[in-house]
Amino acid sequence: MQNKSINILGIETSCDETAAAVVADGRTVKSSVIASQAKLHAKYGGVVPEIASRAHIEKIYPVITEAMEQAKVSKSDIEAIAVANQPGLTVALIVGVTAAKTLSFAWDKPLIAIDHLHAHLQSAVINDSVLNLPAVALIVSGGHTSLYDYRSPLAPELLGTSLDDAAGEAFDKAAAILKLPYPGGPAIEKAAKDGNPEAIKFPRSMLEKDSLDFSFSGIKTAVLYYCHGQDMKGANRVDSMSQQEIADIAASFQAAMVDVLVKKTRRAAEKIGAKTVLLGGGVAANSRLREALGKMCDEAEPAKKLLIAPKQYCTDNAVMVASLAYHKFKAGLFADLTLEPKAYSQIVSEKQV
Ligand code: KG4
Ligand code: ZN
Repeated sequence: MQNKSINILGIETSCDETAAAVVADGRTVKSSVIASQAKLHAKYGGVVPEIASRAHIEKIYPVITEAMEQAKVSKSDIEAIAVANQPGLTVALIVGVTAAKTLSFAWDKPLIAIDHLHAHLQSAVINDSVLNLPAVALIVSGGHTSLYDYRSPLAPELLGTSLDDAAGEAFDKAAAILKLPYPGGPAIEKAAKDGNPEAIKFPRSMLEKDSLDFSFSGIKTAVLYYCHGQDMKGANRVDSMSQQEIADIAASFQAAMVDVLVKKTRRAAEKIGAKTVLLGGGVAANSRLREALGKMCDEAEPAKKLLIAPKQYCTDNAVMVASLAYHKFKAGLFADLTLEPKAYSQIVSEKQV
């Protein structure tokens, strides 16, 4: 007789996506619904917390209802409610946390608290049942850039993290300087397609010889100086630049970012003797990063297996929340109704800003 599958309802509202999903046994995606607010924030060039919070309040009920309907499940089929309660904008997180606590109470189901960054990491392993460990995990999102020593789904150990701007933030800021639309990452990637990645030599900050931390503020400033002039006295030249020049800047910036991310990941993999490399987070959607990491893994001695989050689960979603929650469910790690949103991540040290 087959064991009954464990269906978990996941909820995600940490930034500008309202998402809900039902996942069975941590890997079978029964539904995934995402209401993006990107259009609401685009004209401000970034996420406006109050607008995000209000939009989450409007969308949370329809999104959860649709996730349940698409999965063809009712409350009696759900074993637990999982919610990303950190890190993120607390005014946004609180909407998901309140919804999850309400459902947990009303449906009498256990509540599971999920660290959003940890969930990004989970999305890289969601399709693979056999994991060759140890693995190095690179999580690159809008708010964080971190490397982990991954030996089990519930206890990734931090190896290094961003000391200033996160990778996604650097993409967003460079895009803003180039007057490309928000969110900046996909816009830079698109513009870079026609550009020469070697046109401009932007700095690659590797920090000390053994450091596994990241610093991307220098490259962002370099793009700023390139467009405004070294003394910052010139007006932004972007309006008078040709399409080709913008494409060259975008491609050169992207190449420098990818270079640093790949070299640091290689360093981390060598340090812990990793057999596998995991990649997750919004910036993991970047094709150049995916290709360059693939090349690095193929060329390593011995070669490493690369597991990348499927593109639809790179950016924020609730599948990764429900998937990780399965492991917490099995381990009996439940939250209670005092659960609160927190701005910081549990799996990043205090040095993270
Ligand atoms: O993980 P995510 O959806 O949200 C956070 O948890 O922060 O990541 C969003 C970030 C944004 O900074 C966005 O510009 C970046 O991921 N991003 C990309 C690409 N797609 C999204 N960066 C580079 N290339 C992309 N294709
Ligand atoms: Zn995220």
